[in-house]
Amino acid sequence: MPGELTVSRVDVEDDAALAAWHGVAWRAGLHDRGENATTWTLPELTAQLRSLRRARSTAAYVGTVGGTAVAFGVTALPMLDNTGTAEVAVAVDPPQRRRGHGSAMLAHLLAEVGAQGRTTVHAEVDWPWGSSTDGAGSPGVEFARHHGFALGNLEVMRVLRLPVADAVLDALEPDLGGYTIRSWTGPVPEDLLQAWAEMDASLSTEAPTGDLQVEAQVANTVAVREGEQLLVAQGRTAYRAVALAPDGTAVGYTEVVTTVHEPGRAYQWGTLVHGDHRGHRLGLALKVAALRRLQAAEDPAGPVEHVLTWNAESNAHMVGVNERLGFVPVERCGVFERRL
Ligand SMILES: CC(C)(COP(=O)(O)OP(=O)(O)OC[C@H]1O[C@@H](n2cnc3c(N)ncnc32)[C@H](O)[C@@H]1OP(=O)(O)O)[C@@H](O)C(=O)NCCC(=O)NCCS
Repeated sequence: MPGELTVSRVDVEDDAALAAWHGVAWRAGLHDRGENATTWTLPELTAQLRSLRRARSTAAYVGTVGGTAVAFGVTALPMLDNTGTAEVAVAVDPPQRRRGHGSAMLAHLLAEVGAQGRTTVHAEVDWPWGSSTDGAGSPGVEFARHHGFALGNLEVMRVLRLPVADAVLDALEPDLGGYTIRSWTGPVPEDLLQAWAEMDASLSTEAPTGDLQVEAQVANTVAVREGEQLLVAQGRTAYRAVALAPDGTAVGYTEVVTTVHEPGRAYQWGTLVHGDHRGHRLGLALKVAALRRLQAAEDPAGPVEHVLTWNAESNAHMVGVNERLGFVPVERCGVFERRL
């Protein structure tokens, strides 16, 4: 009989404990997703766990058998809004699976977040694009369903190989009428901070959320600055752009992020155009501007070879923009939900 799992909270100041905990998720990611794995690197996760941001509280849990780490767990609690919700993640070392360790870790995480008053739990699961649409048969999906989670929103992860030729970007560059695009690298300029905070906060409810319970996020400029400090601590560089209406108001934004810990890769994060200003090809213009900036940059991690992005499968407009840029699907990502 396999030994029983002992779950404990990881001391985030203990480098060796963090490395053992992280190693489980890293091996699980490589095993299940190969080159598509998007497990955060140890230094990035460590910086996040050590940061004292007001917007989000994260905690790490390790499951051991006979002193060896075999299960990984994380909880993340939004603190400014969505205060009834928790996000959890579980991973088990591949040779140690189907022994109940994942279930034991999940039970521990659910008890922790439940004790903190959270009644809605979200968990993300990834599976290859080429397998079933609903993920049936993939370990994470079967596990989530077994534990009473239901699919709330289906996203697709796409990859874009770089460089995109300037001629392609030129051909895609739309005529913006009276709108303009302003792009930069690094922190949001002070004059755009309030608008950035508002646009960024609106993304989680403006993008399709499927059947998930999601409340509007609170816009908080101090939280934006804290997030930027965390990016620096994580070795990340943000390439950003906003769309400005003829009167100078910021009405759209995008950001692409690299990290020194994953040379060759960039992540396309949020892109949003305010509802009153859609239909002017601002989404495409923002992404072209950010890509141009990324491709022209001397990134601290060296040349970027590919960009990853996630969109809800139902988000036809954003997916259309991405396909015109050359993004191709590689995985699906289901956001699962369960009530406690
Ligand atoms: C999902 C994962 C955590 C499961 O860990 P585990 O220790 O194997 O899980 P358990 O042994 O507790 O499995 C509990 C039940 O889930 C279901 N299940 C788990 N893996 C499965 C698989 N590969 N195929 C079918 N059902 C599976 C079964 O019902 C299983 O019960 P059973 O073994 O009695 O049939 C592990 O496969 C993993 O790390 N995957 C990658 C990360 C991930 O997807 N995490 C889930 C999202 S948070």
